[in-house]
Amino acid sequence: MTAIGIHDIAIATGHHVLELDDLAERLGVDPAKYHVGIGQDAFSVPAPDEDIVTMGAAAAKEIIDRHGVEGIRTVLFATESGVDQSKAAGVFVHGLLGLPQSVRVVELKQACYGGTAAVQLALGIVARAPHERVLVIAADVARYDVDTAAEPTQGAGAAAVLVTADPDLIEIEPAAGVFTADVDDFWRPNDRSTALVDGRLSVTAYVDAFVGAWDDLVAQGGPGYEDIVRWVHHQPFTKMAIKAHRKLAQHVGQPFDDAELALGFTYNKQTGNTYTASIWIALAALLDLDDELDGQRIAMFSYGSGSVGELLTGIVRPGYRAHRREGRVRSLLEARVPLTVDAYRELHAAGAATSEDTERPRVTTAPYRFAGVRGGARRYEPTTQD
Ligand code: HMG
Repeated sequence: MTAIGIHDIAIATGHHVLELDDLAERLGVDPAKYHVGIGQDAFSVPAPDEDIVTMGAAAAKEIIDRHGVEGIRTVLFATESGVDQSKAAGVFVHGLLGLPQSVRVVELKQACYGGTAAVQLALGIVARAPHERVLVIAADVARYDVDTAAEPTQGAGAAAVLVTADPDLIEIEPAAGVFTADVDDFWRPNDRSTALVDGRLSVTAYVDAFVGAWDDLVAQGGPGYEDIVRWVHHQPFTKMAIKAHRKLAQHVGQPFDDAELALGFTYNKQTGNTYTASIWIALAALLDLDDELDGQRIAMFSYGSGSVGELLTGIVRPGYRAHRREGRVRSLLEARVPLTVDAYRELHAAGAATSEDTERPRVTTAPYRFAGVRGGARRYEPTTQD
């Protein structure tokens, strides 16, 4: 049977960064609570002319620049911070990238899980038509109210994932563990631009979904715990992955050392929560930084509040190191422009979506920008007009 899986991953993030040391100082919190207690160092903040579309398009552009458009007949855009209730964000990306018209585009939503649902749909499309390639884009801006416990767990970023037959990076295995439970742990009603969250409940709901998805994976004939060499997780904050993993290790009666997850934390500690993109950013870090993965099985756990969890496994393709983009994500992270707490809070206050006509200041240096709203419709454009 032809291997189907992930051929390439590209990452984008916001133009700005807020260091959690600065937030800790402002709030009179011990910085160790952020660095150790929740396992985060900073979070990305979008410029006024950035949003999920511009970040998603930047990540997708990298994929198209590397692989061309041939065979791409489907673009799946997953987000929980959508910019329109009707039009799929992917249609804006389709226009910005000049993709062919013979492409279907749709948006998917189930909190942070949507990107994994998109990858599952993509795997199905490629299984039926192995000559096709599916472009999955996962992009989000995580926004909570300021002065809440969730404030340090905000973030912004996007991942573009190319799903193909005979992939360069990972063959995804057919068995998957899934888990759904109707829980009010985190949600964002239509009249709000920030999420509502019951933080403690969300942590237990995540753990329940992880253990439940594991049990389902076993029931589906998936691999044994000892056959999995590395794990990556959806990481709302990196300590969450450790908490959940400790529970799973107890559940299956296996030893677990927190350090086993550390490489997958590298980028997420800097971007903050990127909702749908989080797990793919964790995966990109693992593939970029771990040299020992040729032919090894890894597991990927996706969680979306509300709640849906899914546990996928895959075999890393021998030779994956020749295809990784070492240094690319680090340079993106290092290029971010730091904000003071006051400047970040000003951007936060102005960040709510609007259908009022506006012009956005030119700030971002990413390939595409949100120009503003004209005639009630959002307008996007390349950042440099040549
Ligand atoms: P909090 O107020 O920071 O909680 O809120 P805390 O006071 O319990 O402190 C957190 C940890 O810091 C604790 O460790 C403290 O002991 C430790 P733990 O007991 O958890 O191991 N700590 C310190 N450590 C070192 N030095 C110190 C120190 N002080 C304290 N000086 C909470 C935490 C998660 C509730 C909050 O950040 C929040 O509400 N976040 C948003 C919700 C969230 O991210 N939930 C995660 C699961 S849900 C999910 O993943 C879905 C999501 O991504 C959205 C989606 O799917 O759409 C959110």
